[in-house]
Amino acid sequence: MIAARTADVVCIASFNADLTSRVARPPARGETVLASRFSIGPGGKGSNAAIACARQGARVAVIARIGNDDFGHMALALWQREGIDAAMVEVVDDEPSGVAQILVYDDGDNSIAVAPGAGTGLGARHADAAAGLIGQARVVMASCEVPIEATQAAFAHARRAGAFTLLNPAPAQALPDSLLALCELLTPNQSELRVLAGVDADTSLQRAADALLSRGAGAVAVTLGAAGCMLFRRGREALTVAGHPMLVADTVGAGDTFTGAFAAAIARGAAIAVAAAWANAAAALSVAGEGATGGMPGLEAVAVLLGRSDRADAKPWISR
Ligand code: RIB
Repeated sequence: MIAARTADVVCIASFNADLTSRVARPPARGETVLASRFSIGPGGKGSNAAIACARQGARVAVIARIGNDDFGHMALALWQREGIDAAMVEVVDDEPSGVAQILVYDDGDNSIAVAPGAGTGLGARHADAAAGLIGQARVVMASCEVPIEATQAAFAHARRAGAFTLLNPAPAQALPDSLLALCELLTPNQSELRVLAGVDADTSLQRAADALLSRGAGAVAVTLGAAGCMLFRRGREALTVAGHPMLVADTVGAGDTFTGAFAAAIARGAAIAVAAAWANAAAALSVAGEGATGGMPGLEAVAVLLGRSDRADAKPWISR
């Protein structure tokens, strides 16, 4: 590792190589289905959010652990291309990089199985080693694809230094109150919200979000897919941000785009409700491109979409 530069946003990041097959439907247990297409590309919820954030103009640094293999080299090349500081990334010889096996269906929806590989070894020591980098950032973000200890340590450093903390709680899992209390913003989808809150599918989003707010989370922005998102804050009315109609190529990475664009907007100094609108628009644009990073927009594209969305005749303006 070499000395890190400064960054607006630091991401405690997972990286996976996405091995993606396009199929008409998921195979049943014990069944084989034929895929119409296959691709290998960069993914991982943390790396995806970092790229979405960098494309929104933020200076981004990643703290990650990858293998010294073809997929790890793919990650380093990607981060370099996207202008992301990877000085605090540990590259290990004896463990494989993370891999995600992805099925994308005809309607753009997907199923994913992740083998985190070297990412499993990311821990508090990595966050501690990057305390200086974290301490000067405006926003520190993570997902549940990296070990909780790494996120907890990084968020503790961030909060001590006054940085905003943002957790994308995916894949969903129950989280300790000690971590929730360090999160200024959570960005779950609807099912992740309910798993996190420990409530059943009939519980309203408001009640599920309230459960997390009462356990210490600062705010909850729930993504609703094509319907947009809702923002819940303690003692405030819930805010609904409408979705933007888009032609869907592939929804892989849409939630990560939401998280990364949210972080970039907060780092720019936007109020949380404004940041939610930017994140919502960036995520909408992202589904028009294939692969986790293929559709992630730049700042200008989001600004244009938000400008146009004020018009009553707003229509999908992206074609494939
Ligand atoms: O959120 C999408 C991501 O989930 C994919 O890129 C895959 O790697 C998994 O981490």
